[in-house]
This record gives sequence, C-alpha cells and structure tokens, in this order.
Amino acid sequence: MPPLDDSPNTFELPPLPFAESALEPTISARTLSFHHGKHHKAYVDKANSLIKGTDRAGKTPEDVIRATAKNPDESEIFNNAAQAWNHAFYWRSLSPTATKPEAALMDAIEKTFGGLDQLKDKLREAGMKQFGSGWAWLILENGKLAVTKTGNADTPIAHGQTALLAIDVWEHAYYLDYQNEREKHLKTVLDKIVNWGFASQNFVQAMM
Ligand SMILES: [Fe+2]
Repeated sequence: MPPLDDSPNTFELPPLPFAESALEPTISARTLSFHHGKHHKAYVDKANSLIKGTDRAGKTPEDVIRATAKNPDESEIFNNAAQAWNHAFYWRSLSPTATKPEAALMDAIEKTFGGLDQLKDKLREAGMKQFGSGWAWLILENGKLAVTKTGNADTPIAHGQTALLAIDVWEHAYYLDYQNEREKHLKTVLDKIVNWGFASQNFVQAMM
C-alpha cells in the first residue's frame, strides 16, 4: 500500500463572498450554484489531484501557474490551476451592492481611459472580442492600467501582470440567464455588480 499523502491541498474552493441569490437579477442563484459548486469545484479538485505527490504540491497556487504556463506537457495542470485561481479572483470581482473606484484608482482610470464609462466600454469590448471561452481583465503592467483578454484558462499571472478585476466570459457564466447574449450579460455586469472596491484594493497594493 502506498504511504498516505496527507499534505494540504494547494488549491481550495473558497466560499462565495455573498449569498447565491445576492447577484440577482444580474446573475441568478442557479447560475452561481452551478458555476461555483460544479465548475469552480471541478477545477480545484482536478488541479489538486493532478499535482498530488509531485514536486508541484506544496507550492503556492501562483507558483504552480507560473511554473506550468510555458510547458506543454503540463497544460492540464496549468488549465485547471489557472481556472481555480481565476474563479476565486472572479467572485471577489463581483459585488451585490453598488461600488465605485476609490480615489487613487479613479485618478488612474481617468488618466488612462478618460473615465469610468470608457473603461467599462473597453472591458465590454475585450469580452466581446474574446473568441470562444475566456476572460476580460483590468490589469496593471509596468505600473500602468490596461484592459486585456485571455483565452480559455489563460491568466495575467502567466504574463507577469497584476490582475485588478476579472470578468468571466465562458458560456457557463451566463448561458442559463442570457443564453447566447454575451454582450447583454457583460453590459449588465459592468453597470451593476462590478466590485470596484476590490479593484481599488488590488491597485493600491500593487502600487506600494
Ligand atoms: Fe467560469
């Protein structure tokens, strides 16, 4: 019998930072239940099972993602690890109550994009231009704000960027509520439930 591996899991499924129904009607409880309890959980469980007993176990999630990002032999680990991280970050990017960027982030948004509405347009465009599954992001790179998109599980961590805000544009994020209307979903999320407080905290920390 092989020895029991009782090392702690690298990846964890964090509880949602709000009730499953808290984002209604923008995102339904049914969508959140599947998205968090099935999709996110599956990425976490798979990432942990793939690295168990390997030298990737015991590393931080970010280290696992960076280490596997450029190695095609480890793409399965990367995909599940990055999706586990992306989703944990995504839940914190959403808020059931209206929020606004704090002063330092707002100042940078105005200087970089011209204003918050222009930034929301850029995030919507990024989400729409992502062909197939992926993510739209507000990031910080070399001290500057930027909007990017990534395909499938890809994540700013793999590119040396600091994520400030994530929006999931995989169909599982919106199909039950909006069917094929990705743009309507994006626009509603951006107008109603983005957690600008979380983005503000991430910005201040990254600029320290
Ligand atoms: Fe997702």
